[in-house]
Amino acid sequence: MNNNAPIGIFDSGLGGLTVARAIIDQLPYEPIMYIGDTAHSPYGPLPLATVRSLAIAVMDRLVEAGVKILVIACNTASAAVLRDARERYADIPVIEVIQPAVRRAVASTKNRKVGVIATQATVNSRAYEDSFAAAPDLELTVRACPRFVEFVEAGIDSGPELLQAAGEYLMPLKKAEIDTLVLGCTHYPLLKGVISYVMGSSVNLVSSSEETAIDVYRELISHGLTADSDTVSPRREFFTTGNAKEFERNAHRFIGPMIGTVNPIRTD
Ligand code: DGL
Repeated sequence: MNNNAPIGIFDSGLGGLTVARAIIDQLPYEPIMYIGDTAHSPYGPLPLATVRSLAIAVMDRLVEAGVKILVIACNTASAAVLRDARERYADIPVIEVIQPAVRRAVASTKNRKVGVIATQATVNSRAYEDSFAAAPDLELTVRACPRFVEFVEAGIDSGPELLQAAGEYLMPLKKAEIDTLVLGCTHYPLLKGVISYVMGSSVNLVSSSEETAIDVYRELISHGLTADSDTVSPRREFFTTGNAKEFERNAHRFIGPMIGTVNPIRTD
C-alpha cells in the first residue's frame, strides 16, 4: 500500500464534509478523495438495501482509485453497509461514524439521558440502540428528523421553516430532559446553530466528525500508513455524482476555500 495514496471519504452529499474537515484539521499532510453521492441523495428515506447498493457503488470507485483507507462519513450508510464493506474491502481499513459518536456521548453525559437525532433509515436500522447497548444505564431517546438533510443540501441554515421543523423534531428530546444530543447524521453539524438554539445551551451536542478523525488517525498510525509530512499541499479531490457547481457553491458556504474545485463522477 502506498502511504501517499488518498484517504477515501464518502457521504450521500455535503454532510461528510464535516468529517473531511476534521480529518484535514487533524491530518493536514494527508491527501483526500471525497465523493458526495448527491445524485442519489438523500439516503435517509430509502430502504437500507438500496442504501447498501448505492454505498457499495461509491466505495468501489474510491477503492478502484487506490485509496488506502475508507471512511464512511454517513450514518445512514454506516448503519446499512459497514459489515459488507469490511468484508468486501478486506485489504484496507474501513472506518465509520456511529461508534465514535456513541463513545463520545457515553463519556460526556452527566445525567445519563442521551438523545440521538438521525435519518429515518438510521432510526429504522436501530444501529444507535445496538451501539449504546454497552451502556445499559443510559436512557436513550431516538428521533428521526427527515427534513434536516433537505435544508442542508439546499444551503438553508436559518429561517422560520427550519425553526418550525426543528421545534417539532426536537420537542420529545427536550421533554426527555437529555443533557447530551448525538447528531447522528453527518449533515446535522451544519445545523448546529438552530439545534442548539432550540435545545438550549446546556445540552451538549456531539458530532462524530472529530472522534471519527481520531479513529482515522489511529488506524493510519497502527497500519504504518501515514503520508510523508514533507508534502506541503497534499492533493484534496472532491467529486459529486450530482451537480458539481451546486455542490461546490454549498460546500464553500460550509467549509470554506479548502474545498477547491469539485468534479463530476459517475457510479453507475
Ligand atoms: N449524512 C448522512 C448521514 O449521516 C445521510 C443523509 C441523507 O442522505 O439522508 O446519515
